Amino acid sequence: MRLVLVALLCLVACGGAPMSTFDGGPATVSMPDGGSLTWTPGQYSLDLITEAQTWRQVLPATYPGTGGHSGQRVRVLFNALAAPTYDSMTEPVQFQVGSVIAKAVVAAEATPLDQATRYYFMRKEPAGWDTASNDWSWGVANRSGTTWTYSTMGRSSLCTGCHQADARWDFARTVQVFRTQTPP
Ligand code: HEC
Repeated sequence: MRLVLVALLCLVACGGAPMSTFDGGPATVSMPDGGSLTWTPGQYSLDLITEAQTWRQVLPATYPGTGGHSGQRVRVLFNALAAPTYDSMTEPVQFQVGSVIAKAVVAAEATPLDQATRYYFMRKEPAGWDTASNDWSWGVANRSGTTWTYSTMGRSSLCTGCHQADARWDFARTVQVFRTQTPP
């Protein structure tokens, strides 16, 4: 009886947060290939730039990107957790935790991914990480010579501010482009 009371008191005093709410620790999810993915929410490693080049690429190479990338091209890449959501035609779109989408900015149609000058990332963090952004975190990596540096990492009202226009597509603007516009 006493134990039950302590447990109940703790539920109230400790916030009684559901298990799925972000508690500040690392996150782990199972991958479709049987492996697992572990990361620190809001943190972006430079390895991600190499990994992203092996992900599922969408949008044709001729697609110029919507604004902000004048004279350049963008490639959008979905990791193994995000790709099935992109492929499905269900609505509303809801990406699962651990989904990562990358956008590489390249100089021209023929420029390979390893020659990109910038990578944008968005990763679906555990529930409760940032309700304003639908729990997406953001990252921007810029190349100078052979050195990559992140200029944005974590929460960003700038990124959220624009991406929230596509709430119907879980803030993933490429999904909106693909489903509602004539394929470029
Ligand atoms: C002015 C509006 C705008 C802002 C601000 C913006 N984005 Fe985007 N983003 C887009 C659009 C539109 C696309 C779809 C691809 C395209 O047309 O370039 C996109 C695509 C992406 C993608 C590919 C996945 C997807 O949603 O389609 C990522 C990743 C991304 N942006 C990250 C970021 C990050 C990180 C920031 C903040 C530094 C940011 N974006 C700020 C408009 C914006």
